[in-house]
Amino acid sequence: MAERGASSGGGSRRGGFSGGRGSSGGRPSPGGRARKPARDEARNAAYDLLRAVDERDAYANLLMPRLLRERGLKGRDAALATELAYGTLRGLGGYDAIIAMCGDREPDPAVLDALRLGAHQLLKMRVPPHAAVGTTVDLVRLRIGTGASRFANAVLRKIASRTLDEWIAIVAPPAGSDLVGHLAIAHSHPRWIVSAFRDALGRDAEETADLLAADNARPVVTLVARPGRSSVEELEEAGAEPGRYSPYAAYLPEGDPGQILAVAETRAAVQDEASQLVALALTRVPVDGPDDRWLDMCAGPGGKAGLLDAIATHGDLAAGKSGEAAFAFAGGARMLAADVQYHRARLVWQTTRQAAVITADGTEPAWRPGSFDRVMLDAPCTGLGALRRRPEARWRRDPASVAELGALQRHLLGTALDSLRPGGVAAYVTCSPHLAETQVVVADVLRRRDDVEQLDARAFLPGIDGLGEGPHAQFWPHRHGTDAMFLALLRRRA
Ligand SMILES: C[S@@+](CC[C@H](N)C(=O)[O-])C[C@H]1O[C@@H](n2cnc3c(N)ncnc32)[C@H](O)[C@@H]1O
Repeated sequence: MAERGASSGGGSRRGGFSGGRGSSGGRPSPGGRARKPARDEARNAAYDLLRAVDERDAYANLLMPRLLRERGLKGRDAALATELAYGTLRGLGGYDAIIAMCGDREPDPAVLDALRLGAHQLLKMRVPPHAAVGTTVDLVRLRIGTGASRFANAVLRKIASRTLDEWIAIVAPPAGSDLVGHLAIAHSHPRWIVSAFRDALGRDAEETADLLAADNARPVVTLVARPGRSSVEELEEAGAEPGRYSPYAAYLPEGDPGQILAVAETRAAVQDEASQLVALALTRVPVDGPDDRWLDMCAGPGGKAGLLDAIATHGDLAAGKSGEAAFAFAGGARMLAADVQYHRARLVWQTTRQAAVITADGTEPAWRPGSFDRVMLDAPCTGLGALRRRPEARWRRDPASVAELGALQRHLLGTALDSLRPGGVAAYVTCSPHLAETQVVVADVLRRRDDVEQLDARAFLPGIDGLGEGPHAQFWPHRHGTDAMFLALLRRRA
């Protein structure tokens, strides 16, 4: 076992650190005067983000761009601040266990956030140890005080004495006796999420570890070129590369998507590739009879509605590009897009062109039953399939939220099916692979009705392997490089 407990009093003076950027980490200068700590803008911005997430439940990916703008951080500094903050938030499960072993007391929340930031630099980033320790100690001295900076110095020097793998071997339970506990610490996820992912992956330990690792990697920015409004070629001219699966997808290796004209004009948008594919699959199911009334029941903020609205209007123009699409919609439908929250419905209105947009509660439908040929239900869910995009989200959810959402998901799916005319088709989609939000919801609702058949969703996602045993389709970050979106396609019997 590792030696426990840095003294919170003075901090050890042994060890080889001279501090980052000339910092002595609280050590007096040769002349006896404490050196003035340097203020590091990128690290301060990252620290402020961590404090805001901790204290005010801020959303990291909403606050970070604002912080960068306000502080004038651009280019490499902006990238550093973002990596420091997001990486720390993702990794803090493991870092907290290591910090607990290296200090002689529980740090105050403000000190803990700084220690997490230091631990991330020491254990995950290629920041030289003297710089990681020195800059973090400077930050603590400037923002909290000299006493706390001595404590931070001692704890960080202990952390720096081992690699991440060495620490994991010490702080995590052995995989042989507690696999879920081991993976939870090793890949910094709450235990209940590891357990849910493992169940969804058929209890395969190696795949579960791959998924958790994928959640900790920065996702590539994926764009959608809305058909009839933009094209992948236009996005390529702006520096993007064609996507792997969706004929409307393009990956943006670097740069700010907001600077791309097509994105600024809402002809294109940032959208995960699996999100595109589940919307596309709904439009590719052949439907007998009229096919001009579509509904997106939970449309806000409008990612899927934006693509559906373009296909409804102009058709599935790139169908030929993605293998043998069973059916390509020719255009000429109108979509109703609804969301229970006014401000989210407003975002849908801003991103669509032809759709009628309303604020409406799907559990008390504002439309007559049997009105629609196609219905998209992208249900409110835990979002466990998009943890790599929302660095703090894994620490915010708890198992109770799965149960709470379950009742709403069942109710909304019932409405979606009632809203279909006979022969119409609905997509039940979640951005979560949790079985209680996916297969169990569909099975429960179908058990109570004999007017609905489930289609094999994989048939409408041609050329994509690894979607599971069917009839639903499950995307995975570690297999497809997408969010873990779930899709079930359900047809109302004619
Ligand atoms: C997963 S999000 C939908 C994402 C959206 N389809 C997209 O691609 O951008 C779920 C949405 O359901 C909405 N919602 C929650 N409860 C609802 C209800 N009872 N009726 C209608 N919308 C609801 C939420 O406000 C949220 O915008």
